[in-house]
Amino acid sequence: MDTPVVLFRDGDGKARALVDRCPHRNAPLSLGRVNADGNLECGYHGWRFDGAGECAAVPGLLTGEANASARTAEHFATHESDGFVWIWGEANADPGGQRPFELPALEPNMVEVVFDYDLDCTMHAAIENALDVPHTAFLHRGIFRGGSKAPTKPITAERHDLEGGVEVQYLGEPVGMGPIQLGKKTNLTFDHWDRFFLPSVAQVEYRVDGWLRITNSILHLPMSAFRTRAWFVVRFWTKAPPSVVKPIVLARGKQILKQDAFMLKAQTENTKQFGGERYTSTDLDLLGNAIWRLLRLAEKGEVVDVDLPPRQVSFRV
Ligand code: FES
Ligand SMILES: [Fe+2]
Repeated sequence: MDTPVVLFRDGDGKARALVDRCPHRNAPLSLGRVNADGNLECGYHGWRFDGAGECAAVPGLLTGEANASARTAEHFATHESDGFVWIWGEANADPGGQRPFELPALEPNMVEVVFDYDLDCTMHAAIENALDVPHTAFLHRGIFRGGSKAPTKPITAERHDLEGGVEVQYLGEPVGMGPIQLGKKTNLTFDHWDRFFLPSVAQVEYRVDGWLRITNSILHLPMSAFRTRAWFVVRFWTKAPPSVVKPIVLARGKQILKQDAFMLKAQTENTKQFGGERYTSTDLDLLGNAIWRLLRLAEKGEVVDVDLPPRQVSFRV
């Protein structure tokens, strides 16, 4: 959100986050170092800050206290879970009892793959893209969906309201990916859900009874208006051994992501070229507008548990 943040671990090993600007002469605190006591020392004149941003020492100052409110760096509350450091979006604010998003449990027989990618687009465009099914038959034709000459069966999609989010459930899609089409012979269909959770999490889940369970939770960080960092946390179980599946998930995931990143950048440049977004939608754009609405309400600090009307649509890919 256009605010550089410096992260460090204090003397207790707790992750700490300060606005990356020294109160003294505004040098980036990230150019400093962490002392043995866990305070962050500015690289310019050596002022030292604790995890709450309070000035613990001004080297060479013989008169008065180092600490004073004007010398306090702004800090963000942090929380560590699932290998991520989450920071509260507002400086010097207390999140109270609120906890960040919880990833689905990594059960003992599950495998995890994590990778991140910086996308040149708004956070909304990134999230919509992550949860949008129809584009997968075109932008990712032949490697995800699409590419089959035979007419495909219609898929039913149902949109449900979630607490602080929204979900679409897809029914009746034959199991397959790219050239591997198991569903035609076996009549196996995917159980598939796409979800959005405020403030910035997209989640895609596929299940095939007895064969596959995979959840891709995508955590988005809006770095600036048109730059979004996305962490893909894929947790899965398959009947096939993980040593075989893991490299495929990683390679295929990155291949698809590269195509998305290319299109999202082109979309961003084009909307800028034309002076802003001017979108038009159909029933197939099941989530984009709902996500937009939830984000706008959350931004205004309004009640985010809006009741989105249920919706159902049939489509082909
Ligand atoms: S700018 Fe940081 S101590 Fe002077
Ligand atoms: Fe995509």
